[in-house]
Amino acid sequence: MALTGIDAVVFGVADIKEAARFLDDWGVSRVSASADNLVYRTRDGAEVIVRPKDAPDLPSPIEAGNTVREVIWGVADEADLKKIVEALRDLPSFSIGADGLARVADPNGMSLAFRVSRRTPIVVKPTATNAPGSHQRIDRRSPVHERAFPINIGHVVVFANDFAGMRSFYTEKLGFAVSDEYPGHGVFMRCQEVGAHHNLFILNRPGKPGINHVAFTVTDIHEVIGGGIAMSKKGWRTEIGPGRHPISSAYFWYFENPLAAPLEYYADEDFCTEDWKPGTHERKPELFAEWAIVGGIDGNTRRQMASVDQSGRGHA
Ligand SMILES: [Fe+2]
Repeated sequence: MALTGIDAVVFGVADIKEAARFLDDWGVSRVSASADNLVYRTRDGAEVIVRPKDAPDLPSPIEAGNTVREVIWGVADEADLKKIVEALRDLPSFSIGADGLARVADPNGMSLAFRVSRRTPIVVKPTATNAPGSHQRIDRRSPVHERAFPINIGHVVVFANDFAGMRSFYTEKLGFAVSDEYPGHGVFMRCQEVGAHHNLFILNRPGKPGINHVAFTVTDIHEVIGGGIAMSKKGWRTEIGPGRHPISSAYFWYFENPLAAPLEYYADEDFCTEDWKPGTHERKPELFAEWAIVGGIDGNTRRQMASVDQSGRGHA
């Protein structure tokens, strides 16, 4: 019954034009754009859909302002879709939308829809590395990226009003596997046993559900850095990054944006199988980042910008 990943994220925003300007710079491909509907795609076909936040056909928001209004999860085929629908049919929020998609609300109130995936998995080759005695890049220079081209939408991170309810909904109803955990505070989950470290990270924040960030996978650290510098050069503000997460091992760079909470470029996360040993950790800042630059890097001087972390996201 495993889900294959995030097939689309639907955003509701105040300023469609500004959202389009950001996405053009972010490196996703524009499929269509009108005054009330933007559709962009990552390299593997995952969709970023943007609508005016007051569009009457959008699911209800879980927080005020620009935010994610729906996550569409992909499945491999019609048989798996049928299994998901059967597993969810008894939920009070279950419905079939006008678009034919099965929908439920998770315990946070976020609308989830399900469809046979429209993504086409692609194979990328990260830059090979060299070390004494182990030369994997021979007679080839390491690249400098002018910008990023996100490969997929790797994960969504949410603040949960009912943390325990969210944890059991995703593990028991949707078959997610726990990859790492801050007991009682946060849980990293992947939507299939064999897969990338997390497609969903749930943070405990009673009384204040919301979106923490949405993350786009790029090829390797060089594309994180090149993409981030390009965004800085275009005037988009860093929330935090570049940096590296000890949990999941990924390199990251988060940007403020007109779509929702920060959007993230990331690369080189852990890949898990049934042999992965989930860890339990104490929540502390050094587990959010082994290292991180709060103000980002100025795109012109290539030096760190002075900044103060006022995000309120906690970074832990
Ligand atoms: Fe992330």
